[in-house]
Amino acid sequence: MNTIAQPKPSVSLSDRLLDAVGHAIKAPSGHNTQPWLFRLKSGQVELLADPRRACPVVDPNNRELTISCGAALFYLTLALHCDGLATMVRVLPLGSEENVIARVMVAGPHVPSDDEQSLFDAIPKRRTNRFPFSKQDVDPELQSEWINDAKSERAWIHLIHAEREKHAVADLISEGDRQQASDKHFRRELAKWIHSNTSSRRDGIPGYSQGVSDFASHFGWLAVRTFDWGDGQAAKDRQLAEGSPLLAVIGTEGDTPADWIKCGQALAKISLRAASWSVDASYLNQPIEVPRLRTKLAELIGTNAHPQLLLRLGYGSEVKPTPRRSVEDVLV
Ligand SMILES: Cc1cc2nc3c(=O)[nH]c(=O)nc-3n(C[C@H](O)[C@H](O)[C@H](O)COP(=O)(O)O)c2cc1C
Repeated sequence: MNTIAQPKPSVSLSDRLLDAVGHAIKAPSGHNTQPWLFRLKSGQVELLADPRRACPVVDPNNRELTISCGAALFYLTLALHCDGLATMVRVLPLGSEENVIARVMVAGPHVPSDDEQSLFDAIPKRRTNRFPFSKQDVDPELQSEWINDAKSERAWIHLIHAEREKHAVADLISEGDRQQASDKHFRRELAKWIHSNTSSRRDGIPGYSQGVSDFASHFGWLAVRTFDWGDGQAAKDRQLAEGSPLLAVIGTEGDTPADWIKCGQALAKISLRAASWSVDASYLNQPIEVPRLRTKLAELIGTNAHPQLLLRLGYGSEVKPTPRRSVEDVLV
């Protein structure tokens, strides 16, 4: 039980802020672009979007980039709370003040709740798992917690168990795969973020995350860039979607940068909650990235609001972590 926030006299506040940044950079991000920067000021951390890491083909409005920053913001405040520091957060619209997304100010001591501590402890366990999940159903209690998690971040989550609905969503995913892979600009952009298992790069997606061998991973980017692999990916993703016990759409009432940050915060909380229950999450965002299919997905799940992310959730085998840049690399 947590009762008293322990003062940490030997560690300076700026070291504690740096430590929190070290946790924030573990957040998920589209293509592992890690599109964030952090600026330390007296008693505060600014989180900035890094537009040099944008993916203008798949994400022309920086929607996913902003969602990724929202996830990092959740990790940052969670880490500060679990270090005994209360926070005041001011979220700013993207494009204002040199792309500052949020200003997180330390506002005195804080006693982390057991819930905060268990989410924090899940940070090193949370990984995107692109492999098939077992048929085992996800505990209904965890599903209710996700609904509350989304609400607490002013987002929503729609859970899909019914086979018929899963088939219909899988149709949209397959259509998205075919459309995206047929576009050479999409393939070129994706190929830039794919690298070999032995690469020294600290961002992007290594081949092993997709089950590619060390040898084949040297050519993965070239294959992705050169061929229209839409049909193969469509078949693979259909199996993954239909074979997972649960699909979930995370969405928001509006579709502005402020909503995307809320979505990122909800994603962080939901995926850390999942990891704390040993449940894995993986992304099948294709039908949200293609505008025509996004409208169809909203109709399918019966909402006038805005789907932002499509996940599959379930129990998978252990996967290796993806790399991250160092704290020094992300400091302004
Ligand atoms: C906004 C957003 C969009 C993402 N879209 C996809 C996606 O379409 N397909 C996919 O396989 N992973 C997707 N991811 C997962 C990232 O690729 C993953 O977070 C990144 O590679 C880091 O790996 P990790 O989550 O295991 O730490 C997305 C993540 C975020 C935050």
